[in-house]
Amino acid sequence: MERIVVVGAGHMGSVIVRGLLDGMPRVEVVVVEPSAERRASLDGGAEVAAAYEPRPDDLLVLAIPPQAFDSFADGLPPGACAQATVVSVMAGVRLETLASALGTGAVLRAMPNLASRVGQSMTVLCPGDQVSTGGMERAKGALSVIGKVLVVQDESLLDAATAVAGSGPALVAYLAQSFTDFARGAGFGTHDALLLTSQVLRGTADVLAEPGVTPESLYQQASTPHGTTAEGIATLREHRVGESVRAALEATTERARELAG
Ligand SMILES: NC(=O)c1ccc[n+]([C@@H]2O[C@H](COP(=O)([O-])OP(=O)(O)OC[C@H]3O[C@@H](n4cnc5c(N)ncnc54)[C@H](OP(=O)(O)O)[C@@H]3O)[C@@H](O)[C@H]2O)c1
Repeated sequence: MERIVVVGAGHMGSVIVRGLLDGMPRVEVVVVEPSAERRASLDGGAEVAAAYEPRPDDLLVLAIPPQAFDSFADGLPPGACAQATVVSVMAGVRLETLASALGTGAVLRAMPNLASRVGQSMTVLCPGDQVSTGGMERAKGALSVIGKVLVVQDESLLDAATAVAGSGPALVAYLAQSFTDFARGAGFGTHDALLLTSQVLRGTADVLAEPGVTPESLYQQASTPHGTTAEGIATLREHRVGESVRAALEATTERARELAG
């Protein structure tokens, strides 16, 4: 039976475990979590262990904080990961670091985001050069339980992916706050202001996902000359909102680069 071992049962680890239990019922799921309290709080379905006990052909998903990685790797028995495929969702831990600490080249880096908790993550996945086609498919399949997966071969793209996809929901939420603040100021209650904003975001995302639609085609189509939308877009241009968003994404990418060392 195929086995997937998720190390770390925090926010991301537990979402992945829940997704695996719901979406891949024929897979044996094991959660490795050193905290007895957290182990006891896990709801059923997965096997729970305090430490990783290796088995050949494991798919290992590392969902621990980056600063816990060295001690995790140091605590493994020699050769523990030699026959495993390892997917790390740790922000900023490079493929080279993973491979050398774990003693295997079969390592992949993934950048999921917080929409994973509603099965809508945009996860960017980058395989190391020693990952087999089978290992790649298994990693992609396991991450598909939390949303969409985009594979890139160039690891340097993960820094920009961290900005656009990883931090994306928080950056979009920051912009969305201006919508809810405005709606409340105009007289809508908090609940209705949030409904207006979230449904606009959801609807816009769905339209953008239609074949042939781009952000530019969408806002141009909606902007009739001298109409209301055209007025709003012109004001955004005047206030250089596009440049501000680009600067925020550049700063986020740079920070991701710095954290990865
Ligand atoms: N949350 C997100 O939206 C998100 C998005 C993209 C990437 N990530 C990445 O996902 C990873 C986890 O993030 P998170 O938000 O889930 O953090 P979290 O809630 O703090 O969870 C981390 C978990 O790992 C456990 N842990 C620590 N050391 C361990 C070890 N040696 N062996 C096994 N388990 C260990 C922690 O247990 P204790 O609490 O007992 O120490 C905790 O349960 C991070 O590397 C982060 O960069 C998260």
